[in-house]
Amino acid sequence: MEILIQPNPEAGCLLAAKIMARVVREKPTAVLGLATGRTPLQLYNELIRMHRDDGLDFSKVTTFNLDEYVGLPGTHPQSYRHFMDEHLFRHINIDRARTHVPDGTAADLQAECRSYEQRIADAGGIDIQLLGLGRNGHIGFNEPTGSLRSRTWVKILSEQTLRDNSEVFGSDERGMPKQAITMGVGTILDARQCLLLAFGPSKVRAVAHMIEGPLAAICPGSALQMHPRAIVLLDENSAAGLR
Ligand code: F6R
Repeated sequence: MEILIQPNPEAGCLLAAKIMARVVREKPTAVLGLATGRTPLQLYNELIRMHRDDGLDFSKVTTFNLDEYVGLPGTHPQSYRHFMDEHLFRHINIDRARTHVPDGTAADLQAECRSYEQRIADAGGIDIQLLGLGRNGHIGFNEPTGSLRSRTWVKILSEQTLRDNSEVFGSDERGMPKQAITMGVGTILDARQCLLLAFGPSKVRAVAHMIEGPLAAICPGSALQMHPRAIVLLDENSAAGLR
């Protein structure tokens, strides 16, 4: 793991955008693994700026998002498909047909999980996988104690995750799904490079366990210790618990 500590989340997101933009410039047909949540918002803003001001070209890029809530159609304002459309896709020149988010409304969710894995394989695998980190150490929606070899699957969200995400869900929170389709930890580890961002004091414990703790299913993020090319981008607050 390469650990990069920036003074604040803004600097972290700018550096993350540079890393992702370099992948796209070096390989215009790159396959990007993407995340939602609060953490990457500024990174997406910077990629949009780079597209607008510097001509960063996404026309041949393919994307796969980590996860989606079960039961929410892509038109639902809290769906991750909607999040991606709003915060990135509609602002850049990406071909929508090349953007993939699991279908949380699929009649056969297991078949959707298998098909998602197949689509990633058919695209040639993921060149760089962007990740956030849950306060409980989850990556994607792989909650503590799930298998570290898992492939795309349906997961029941933990109480902690439901509490954390209900802030974002806002007034609609009673309708918040309790399950999600997520790439498995094994799927994530197959990416040729991983880039995890974790900022702020609420991530201190998860960051310390992910980097220094034992490799254990209780902290799914610790699986990145096994990845040959994983960058962990922190700010001074989230890094405060490292020895
Ligand atoms: C999002 C995802 C989650 C988040 C994590 C951190 O697609 O897979 O693992 O990255 O819950 O969320 P934020 O960034 O909101 O703190």
